[in-house]
Amino acid sequence: MGRSMLLLLWCASIASSLAPGLKLLALAQQNPGFISIDCGAPNDYHDDQLNIYYKADAGYVDSGTNVQVSTQVIYQNNQQQSKNLRIFPSGKRNCYTLMPDEGKGNTYLVRASFWYGNYDGKNQTPAFDLHIDVNYWITVNSSSWIYEEIIYTPPRDYIQLCLVNIGSGVPFISALELRLLDNSTYQINSGALVTNWKYNLGSLSTYRHPQDVYDRIWNNKTYSGGWSSVSNTTAIVTSTSNDAYKVPPEVLMTATQVQNITDPLSLFWTSENSTTVWYIYFHFVELQLQKGQLREFAIYVQDKFVETVTLENLKPVTVASLPISGHNLNLTISATARSSLPPLLNAVDYLCGGLVNAMYDVKKTYGVIRASWQGDPCIPTQYTWSGLNCSYDSSPRIISLNLSSSGLKGPIATSISNLTAVVSLDLSKNSLTGSMPDFLAQMPNLKVLNLSGNNMNGSVPQTLLKKKADGSLLLSLDGNPNLCQSDNCQTSNVQPKKKGISVAPIIASVAAILVLVSLGALAVLWIIKRRQIQDVTTITTTTNSSEGYTGTLKLSKNRPFTSTEVTRITDNFRTVIGEGGFGKVYFGRLDDGIQVAVKMLSRSSKQGYKEFHAKAQLLMVVHHRNLVSLIGYCEEFENMALIYEFMSNGNVRQHLSAHNPSVLSWSERLKIAIDVAQGLEYLHNGGKPPVVHRDLKTPNILLNENMQAKIADLGLSKAFVTEHDSHISTRPAGTPGYFDPEFHTSGNLSKKSDVYSFGIVLFELITGHPAIIRSSEGSMHILRWVTPLIERGDIQSIVDPRLNGQFNIGSAWKAVEIAMSCVPMTAVQRPDMNRVLSELKECLTVEIGSGRSQRMGNSKRRSESFEMTSIELGIAPNAR
Ligand SMILES: *[C@@H]1O[C@H](CO)[C@@H](O)[C@H](O)[C@H]1NC(C)=O
Ligand SMILES: *[C@@H]1O[C@H](CO)[C@@H](O)[C@H](O)[C@H]1NC(C)=O
Ligand SMILES: *[C@@H]1O[C@H](CO)[C@@H](O)[C@H](O)[C@H]1NC(C)=O
Ligand SMILES: *[C@@H]1O[C@H](CO)[C@@H](O)[C@H](O)[C@H]1NC(C)=O
Ligand SMILES: *[C@@H]1O[C@H](CO)[C@@H](O)[C@H](O)[C@H]1NC(C)=O
Ligand SMILES: *[C@@H]1O[C@H](CO)[C@@H](O)[C@H](O)[C@H]1NC(C)=O
Ligand SMILES: *[C@@H]1O[C@H](CO)[C@@H](O)[C@H](O)[C@H]1NC(C)=O
Ligand SMILES: *[C@@H]1O[C@H](CO)[C@@H](O)[C@H](O)[C@H]1NC(C)=O
Ligand SMILES: *[C@@H]1O[C@H](CO)[C@@H](O)[C@H](O)[C@H]1NC(C)=O
Ligand SMILES: *[C@@H]1O[C@H](CO)[C@@H](O)[C@H](O)[C@H]1NC(C)=O
Repeated sequence: MGRSMLLLLWCASIASSLAPGLKLLALAQQNPGFISIDCGAPNDYHDDQLNIYYKADAGYVDSGTNVQVSTQVIYQNNQQQSKNLRIFPSGKRNCYTLMPDEGKGNTYLVRASFWYGNYDGKNQTPAFDLHIDVNYWITVNSSSWIYEEIIYTPPRDYIQLCLVNIGSGVPFISALELRLLDNSTYQINSGALVTNWKYNLGSLSTYRHPQDVYDRIWNNKTYSGGWSSVSNTTAIVTSTSNDAYKVPPEVLMTATQVQNITDPLSLFWTSENSTTVWYIYFHFVELQLQKGQLREFAIYVQDKFVETVTLENLKPVTVASLPISGHNLNLTISATARSSLPPLLNAVDYLCGGLVNAMYDVKKTYGVIRASWQGDPCIPTQYTWSGLNCSYDSSPRIISLNLSSSGLKGPIATSISNLTAVVSLDLSKNSLTGSMPDFLAQMPNLKVLNLSGNNMNGSVPQTLLKKKADGSLLLSLDGNPNLCQSDNCQTSNVQPKKKGISVAPIIASVAAILVLVSLGALAVLWIIKRRQIQDVTTITTTTNSSEGYTGTLKLSKNRPFTSTEVTRITDNFRTVIGEGGFGKVYFGRLDDGIQVAVKMLSRSSKQGYKEFHAKAQLLMVVHHRNLVSLIGYCEEFENMALIYEFMSNGNVRQHLSAHNPSVLSWSERLKIAIDVAQGLEYLHNGGKPPVVHRDLKTPNILLNENMQAKIADLGLSKAFVTEHDSHISTRPAGTPGYFDPEFHTSGNLSKKSDVYSFGIVLFELITGHPAIIRSSEGSMHILRWVTPLIERGDIQSIVDPRLNGQFNIGSAWKAVEIAMSCVPMTAVQRPDMNRVLSELKECLTVEIGSGRSQRMGNSKRRSESFEMTSIELGIAPNAR
């Protein structure tokens, strides 16, 4: 069901305000990145109202007939594109081919519009399916003027939009539009996102081109009852230029807000299919902040915290929600306790995925991820999947498949037999089990079969042995200790004919899909679910706005120490255990035996007294199980001292070093990553003001006797103090290799800078390499080292070789994906730590689920659970 276009009344004033001379320039080139087709139109024309140049169908489609809507209804719709349509009375599948100049890999908005308009006088609305490339998109079945939209990243340089006759009337189309988007905006993981609604809140006008450079359609929406519209037309937003979303100023100029600051702004809707995944993009800009006021709010989706936003006058902010699904869905925006204005919302985008990319399932099933495994395996020719080759004689067929060293498990499935065109099949170096199926001998074109390095048993089918003998098959079976390769082994230990019920399994799915795509050119690689929305309704509730936001930092019991005490604790500064950026660190023991680390701040320290004070103040309020606790401090010294809990297992860098005989297991590494993510998440989101660590690195991550990781050295952190600043832009700090690359261009350090550093830390945990890899040939950043391996899909080379393959491949790929998601060059593309944290927990679940969590080294296991517990008080022993 699309949206009714009858409501789309563009601002008439806009057209009239266009300078008349402008029309003369109305050439196709005037809309770069656009393809605009008025289907069924007799000729090309310029739509003055939209300032878009529309083309007739010629050149885009070979079939069909042009018709006009009934003269009895034509007046009902002012839009030129609605008046003509193209119908496809013959053929099951008729396609438009769009060839954007920018080609594949870019992100496009594709919009198809439909109005039956009783063109045939039968008053019978047809229904038909719409496909985009090889994927089902939606079923069109509407008598009114509607449009369907999808944000799509094509796997080839052209996009086919096909109308498929389903036996319910003649397919038709009124307009087809393609718009190039900035690919840093909407995050498309599965190839496409169906756009559902775009609301221009608090406004009476709908806008699209020319106000929106991407020609998105922002429908006006106002709410009553506890809501009010806000607008400030003098505040035309000019600072949108560096914002890739480019929501038009006209849309941002208006907003809706709740009247009572204690009320949250909540939006509710129902999803027809509770498995559909929704992505919500919120667009905010402040329009009326006066001196001394603060507008700050926390965003929740499905009661899950997303982000806290502090608005500054005229500075647009876009927040993407976490993906959510369910039947009854809700979004809530609540003012924080210190906010002096109620929450507001200027515009909102509802998108949904629910896309089933079949290949993605396969990747998951096997834990096989090849960077190029996207789209159709055989098309386009220059871009086939790695691991397979295709022939293109008639329809594309897979002729060779190489899944060597791909972590395959279980028996070889029968569906492989359907890959009848395969000449070469390499399944070597996996963990395949069971007997060799007879069908391998029946595959007509098979000339190379490599099953070496697996765990097959039973005997080799006679026919295969015969083919091998006569030279028609190159057969490799080495390294299958339980496989009998001679003629006379039909006896005893041979696995009987009994095919276990579990024969169907793992390979089946990959083969089934490969078969599907290789037999017919039509692979349904992802299925775009039809839009599920029923309606977006709104209500406001009266719960307290600050509920659920843990905005307070608990005070600890730490206390000042005297200089005499410090001298006694450290046994007169006997044992140096480290040297930090501020000065030496000594081992100490409190009177009750508790071990501590005493950090002395040398006088020569550049940071000096002022920073010591800032640091001590910060550390006193920040307490979390994954942050090294400050137990006390001493100011009366000539050199100041900070007394921390002692972390007996040293730092993570030492543990990852190739010289360390005890190797951290894969699950220990994941647990460390989770610990660090929890600590960081707490710093970022756990309290007000948020804290940016600014110098996260493996030498700063310490391990206690239970191998629990805690982040140390908040020395460079600085609480956000300015109320209207979401970043800090003071003195640069940090360590090469971990440092946010965007700092060099923007000069700002934000939470997202820590996310970048975290990504590097995670790569260190995965690979064992330091952030900067030094060798005799010079030094190389870890990202430069790892990226080509990721592109090759070579997980075995990515993961620390010292693990000896003792890790779950799926879990490892997931960790790599998470790490990659943290390190885009642009900060906005990096996720919030809470998202990183939940992904990591999933990653650990995969690893634990695979039953491989024994430790290789000899340090003690930790036994706690990894649930995020709430903030804890510092250790604070009662030192006297
Ligand atoms: C189209 O919609 C009508 C009315 O809602 C319904 O009766 C009909 O079954 C639908 N057709 C298809 C093919 O979905
Ligand atoms: C984004 O688009 C540019 C070209 O417009 C392309 O070079 C780049 O690879 C794209 N990035 C992604 C992540 O697709
Ligand atoms: C949009 O504004 C027009 C008036 O300009 C109004 O008639 C229409 O109902 C509004 N649409 C919505 C969805 O609020
Ligand atoms: C705002 O809501 C609170 C709690 O529901 C209520 O006590 C208060 O009177 C309301 N304020 C106004 C101005 O309506
Ligand atoms: C909901 O979506 C899932 C997967 O996308 C599909 O398998 C299921 O049939 C759908 N359910 C309904 C009621 O449409
Ligand atoms: C509108 O925005 C301008 C510029 O930020 C500001 O000076 C003015 O106070 C705003 N007007 C209202 C009514 O808030
Ligand atoms: C919002 O959704 C969550 C998750 O489904 C649910 O627990 C919560 O009750 C909903 N909130 C409201 C106010 O309906
Ligand atoms: C595909 O063909 C190329 C070039 O002939 C070859 O190098 C590659 O090994 C083949 N891949 C497979 C899986 O056979
Ligand atoms: C399959 O790929 C592996 C490396 O990934 C290579 O060693 C092997 O020769 C390939 N097999 C074929 C038949 O090309
Ligand atoms: C293989 O092909 C046969 C016959 O065409 C078909 O019945 C069977 O479902 C196919 N198997 C798979 C796994 O696709």
